[in-house]
Amino acid sequence: MKIAIYPGSFDPITNGHLDILKRALKVFDKVVVLVANNVNKKYTFSDVERVEMIKTITKDMPNVEVESTNGLVVDYARKIGATALVRGLRAVSDFEYELQMATTNEFIDPTIDMVFFMTHLDNTFISSSTVKELFMQGIDISKLVPLEVIEYLKRKSK
Ligand code: COA
Repeated sequence: MKIAIYPGSFDPITNGHLDILKRALKVFDKVVVLVANNVNKKYTFSDVERVEMIKTITKDMPNVEVESTNGLVVDYARKIGATALVRGLRAVSDFEYELQMATTNEFIDPTIDMVFFMTHLDNTFISSSTVKELFMQGIDISKLVPLEVIEYLKRKSK
């Protein structure tokens, strides 16, 4: 069974992330969406909220699991027998960051491969911060995120 991990902040998950997840599911038998933390970021949603949100959104997607970690993604991969980490590329500007992360992960454990998917052209401008900023300004974001995310954002803004 080929297992991949799709790690990220997912603060919140967007249609761009779902696009990458669906592409990964065509290649792997199981994909574990792993809510992880970037030490340089302050999050809007807690780990628990991010996991809960993604679980609701992916409930009808077979072969998807949602977990979280406060440790290294590579350690988590080793623990569950995953052989690859999936990441999405939106534009050339993502490449440098991804290269640095991929080489760091390779340094920690060279047996785990990085697999990159290109996101659909329509999703290239989406990021979690953009979505939150548009929402705060009262712009309709229903084409950018699942409806459940809008509900979470509404509750958070109260
Ligand atoms: N569609 C839309 N947006 C996308 C996207 C896509 N396909 N791919 C990335 N993004 C956006 C995200 O929304 C996010 O936007 P934001 O900065 O506005 O929040 C941004 O691109 C980058 O997010 P993400 O891909 O989640 O990376 P990250 O830097 O937030 O976190 C971790 C990366 C959590 C995977 C990384 O820090 C990590 O592995 N942490 C655990 C510790 C570890 O293992 N460290 C060693 C490796 S460095």
